[in-house]
Amino acid sequence: MQTVSIDLAERSYEVLIGSGMLGNQHPALKMSKGTKTLIVSNETVAPLYLPALVKSLGDAEIHSLVLPDGEKFKNSQYWLRIIDKLVDIQATRDACVVTLGGGVIGDMGGFAAASYMRGISFIQIPTSLLAQVDASVGGKTGINHLLGKNLIGSFHQPRSVLIDINTLKTLPDREFSAGLAEVVKIAAIRDAGFLRWLEQHCDDIADREPEKLATMIERSVSNKAKVVTRDEREQGIRALLNFGHSFAHALETLTGYEQFLHGEAVAIGMMVASRLSEQRGLCKSGFSERLGVLLDRFKLPLDVPENLHANDFIDVMKLDKKTLSGSIRLVLVREPGIGFVDSTTDRQQIQTAIRSSQSNPAQTF
Ligand SMILES: NC(=O)c1ccc[n+]([C@@H]2O[C@H](COP(=O)([O-])OP(=O)(O)OC[C@H]3O[C@@H](n4cnc5c(N)ncnc54)[C@H](O)[C@@H]3O)[C@@H](O)[C@H]2O)c1
Ligand SMILES: [Zn+2]
Repeated sequence: MQTVSIDLAERSYEVLIGSGMLGNQHPALKMSKGTKTLIVSNETVAPLYLPALVKSLGDAEIHSLVLPDGEKFKNSQYWLRIIDKLVDIQATRDACVVTLGGGVIGDMGGFAAASYMRGISFIQIPTSLLAQVDASVGGKTGINHLLGKNLIGSFHQPRSVLIDINTLKTLPDREFSAGLAEVVKIAAIRDAGFLRWLEQHCDDIADREPEKLATMIERSVSNKAKVVTRDEREQGIRALLNFGHSFAHALETLTGYEQFLHGEAVAIGMMVASRLSEQRGLCKSGFSERLGVLLDRFKLPLDVPENLHANDFIDVMKLDKKTLSGSIRLVLVREPGIGFVDSTTDRQQIQTAIRSSQSNPAQTF
């Protein structure tokens, strides 16, 4: 078992990474006798892991709520279902929400815990790779609004995060690859040694070899932890975690959130951002090619679809909530493992990078 401490003064907690914790009593899951505990999960994950989790919670007064599976249910209607359930079981301020699922359940259950009675405690049990390496660390909780992703939410740190890597055995291949994109992202912007390690062990990782997975998750979480503890509310260096994301969000918007999983869009976005870094002479050439080899090994897409126009990309990026006063802020790379935030890239340079990420770019009229 490996432990990563998230040091945030009185909001500090531990992320525990191991295998086989679900189904066994674990100190991190120990509730005082009779504590009202609401497990929030979804229709895919609950049949797989809910019975084991219930066993692990010992003497608590356990309730569960199983929601439909999908990003489209991460909204106020389903958030309110969780609140209604907490009211229904007469949860008081010492109650606890336990989220069991991917990032959707973690974000929405976490936000219900953040808002019920102005905040009750919650434990995250992330079961997708993306949630284990990214969404469950850092305390961002929230839901989508009809007009924007994650528009409603708050920072609410969990009491602990428990990552049982055995849960990855049932994760579909595409979802697994999507999580790997966020792993590559964190290595690319802040840990050259980790990037090399990923390259060396890419075959074992792709085969989901448990020891390698545990190490990979621990290094990803440690890296993210260092960023979020220095900048809990995203006013500075936390923005680095958006490497590839401005392009990814535009790509997701332009393709109606249907063609790509988030991690797939991030893989393409990182390719555009690293090409841009090279084309502007900010990073030695060769980095984007190196990144492409690794992402391809992890079965992630690399190219911007041919039918999309570079101009449309930029228009969408200007509306992104991470854009400040008109200039597009992008995370670029100086060298492998060192990212930085840049606001000096002009429209032409972005267009060139997008076009060079298309095998046959669409004509702009
Ligand atoms: N809070 C944050 O800092 C943060 C960071 C990144 C992403 N997010 C959010 O996370 C969400 C994406 O998370 P995600 O990729 O986990 O999506 P998800 O929660 O939809 O999970 C992906 C799919 O995998 C299934 N699944 C999860 N674990 C499984 C398992 N062990 N076995 C079989 N199937 C399993 C889910 O039911 C779902 O169908 C988005 O809503 C995004 O906004 C939040
Ligand atoms: Zn992401």
